[in-house]
Amino acid sequence: MKLNRIVALLAAVAFSPALFAGEGVIADAMKKFHKGETAPCKKVASGEASASELSAILKSYQDMAKETPAKGTSSSWKEKCDALIAAVTALKSGNKAATSDYKKAVNCKACHDVHKGK
Ligand code: HEC
Repeated sequence: MKLNRIVALLAAVAFSPALFAGEGVIADAMKKFHKGETAPCKKVASGEASASELSAILKSYQDMAKETPAKGTSSSWKEKCDALIAAVTALKSGNKAATSDYKKAVNCKACHDVHKGK
């Protein structure tokens, strides 16, 4: 039965974790800027990131904002990415107080609970 095989194939693709984890712009941004004890986001949060580090992380958030996460609404995704972008932009312009906005915006669990697939 040809139709059965198509349905089985579609199901396999839809449930393939490889499509949702480990690949893509968002996952790359996570690995590069968020993951690990010495991740650049820690420096940003403590106000110690250099101008070029801030530019790199800002670019990554701007790219991330154009993506569609595996889960959650696009308005929530936009809100979260915009908060990261706004905080890093403020830090870039020398507003040190924006580290507290950044710490709020970079809350791993708050975003993963809503937008990260399995
Ligand atoms: C604005 C939302 C958001 C924030 C904030 C966020 N994440 Fe993520 N993260 C995601 C999404 C969405 C994924 C799933 C990406 C995918 O696989 O497509 C993800 C995936 C990951 C992954 C898996 C990457 C891989 O190899 O597939 C790691 C590790 C990670 N995040 C670490 C962190 C850490 C640590 C923090 C906090 C310092 C953090 N993230 C903050 C949205 C966010």
